[in-house]
Amino acid sequence: MLSDGKLQTEKRAGKLANLRAALQANPRSADGIGIGHTRWATHGAPTDGNAHPHVDEMNRVAVVHNGIIENFAQLRMELEERGCKFRSETDTEVVAHMLSEQLTEHNGDLGAAMRPVCRRLEGAFTLVAISEDDPGLVVAARRNSPLVVGRGNGENFLASDVAAFIAHTRDAIELGQDQVVTITADSHSITDFDGNPSEGKEFRVMWDAAAAEKGGYPSFMEKEIHEQPAAIDQTLMGRLDTAGRLVLDELNIDESVLRSVDKIVVVACGTAYHSGLVAKYAIEHWCRIPTEVELAHEFRYRDPIVNEKTLVVSLSQSGETMDTIMAVRHAREQGAKTVAICNTNGSTIPRESDAVIYTHAGPEIAVASTKAFLSQIAAAYLLGLYLAQLRGNKFADEVADILAELNTMGAKIQQVLDGAAEIKAFGTSMADATSVLFLGRHVGFPVALEGALKLKEIAYIHAEGFAAGELKHGPIALIEPGQPVFVVVPSRRGRDSLHAKIVSNIQEIRARGAVTICIAEEGDEAVTPYADHVIRVPQSPTLLAPLLTTVPLQLFACAMAEAKGYDVDQPRNLAKSVTVE
Ligand code: AGP
Repeated sequence: MLSDGKLQTEKRAGKLANLRAALQANPRSADGIGIGHTRWATHGAPTDGNAHPHVDEMNRVAVVHNGIIENFAQLRMELEERGCKFRSETDTEVVAHMLSEQLTEHNGDLGAAMRPVCRRLEGAFTLVAISEDDPGLVVAARRNSPLVVGRGNGENFLASDVAAFIAHTRDAIELGQDQVVTITADSHSITDFDGNPSEGKEFRVMWDAAAAEKGGYPSFMEKEIHEQPAAIDQTLMGRLDTAGRLVLDELNIDESVLRSVDKIVVVACGTAYHSGLVAKYAIEHWCRIPTEVELAHEFRYRDPIVNEKTLVVSLSQSGETMDTIMAVRHAREQGAKTVAICNTNGSTIPRESDAVIYTHAGPEIAVASTKAFLSQIAAAYLLGLYLAQLRGNKFADEVADILAELNTMGAKIQQVLDGAAEIKAFGTSMADATSVLFLGRHVGFPVALEGALKLKEIAYIHAEGFAAGELKHGPIALIEPGQPVFVVVPSRRGRDSLHAKIVSNIQEIRARGAVTICIAEEGDEAVTPYADHVIRVPQSPTLLAPLLTTVPLQLFACAMAEAKGYDVDQPRNLAKSVTVE
């Protein structure tokens, strides 16, 4: 921050609370501008010295940086040859020294100094800088990394994501690639890296400011779990025309192109990848189009077979996951059409895709993704149904019937949530478990993977998800007395063989001492004799069941993390948007 025109820097490794305590111990008055960043360490250990901001040797300019500067070693060597002394092991510090040199060249004009610096950088960066030479302004720049401007009344903001400022303003400007923006309290100006005047895209954030508050819940994660009925309703809202046909207005890809698609490839990471795995079952069943689901970071390195007849569907809550961005770019280079299913308006992935279906789940603040997962499944199902309708695989009334079922899911999720206290109490009682396994079949398999991921990321417990049929091929060796195993039980009203097989699997693991926790439909008594604990979900068609069976697993992970005293919303080592490859 600037305090009486002087640059003051305070930074701490670890939680924000550490920084807050340091500032309370050494309070300073700010002149009205400041910058800050919670950095996910990429170069050097997470220490106070490597934390952001970084300053030049004269303490004249401070900078924060999101991303990775790939040519930082070369730049650092050049600066050191000119006598520059470095204080950290980060890639970012080169920017502070380069800005300082350019400030001298440009008579203290920070905007003018930023442009030549950016031209020399390779990689991905959002940079935000302030300097003593230009005390009323903040300068920022972006390449391959997110940056939005929030336009308030007598105040302006810069952030990676609109959620950071919606409590203050909903008017935003999305910056384009390779742009520099300068803001003061009441103005902004944008140029490209060569100084040519440029424009961003203005938009109004539709999210409610209250969405960025916890609203009485102990964590954002728990609040977001409870927002899932509304999130699903919003994803599905307004998708039927007056003739009762499914419409996807945003999908502005020529219908003849969509009819000629002969393969779908879904690219995503983490939880979004799991929603893609669920969607595959539905899309192939409804559209009869072969569908592959690929981890985005693996996709382009295996030289995938992708061409003009391939539809590449990316799934991303943030729209800023660098691995997914790179997969989408690769797909476009190969001539594929790309559709983004995304929760964040104006983010990079939808911008760089041919079309977008927004999930409208509202801001997801907790690092562990919950409502985004369910709304991604719902949006991918809309896409599948739309393609089935367009290509004649399903009649309009069949599509309408499935949509009608989908529209009941919000209320059914609410029924699961009505039992949240009991599920959480069970999670708390399991807090001493050191390993938990998850089994599922068909769409229950990705649900098992998601249940395990939730537990790993927030409760730091060894957890694995398996396809139940795979048990006998190896994982059953893990079962020893007392091993907790969650089993996602498919509906017996669907394919009976699936249900019967999983009941056998439950017996097999129980015989070896496992503690079995079954997530089963109301009325399914076949599992009762073999379950140590049963969590009931309402009845639903097989393909829609993941929207229900995931919810108890989210609550369970949340309860375990709370019981262990962990920070549910900000688990160690993880960032909400992974903007580096
Ligand atoms: C989920 O709980 C994770 N935090 C993570 O796996 C996440 O889903 C993944 O990084 C993808 O993020 P995105 O949806 O923003 O692309």
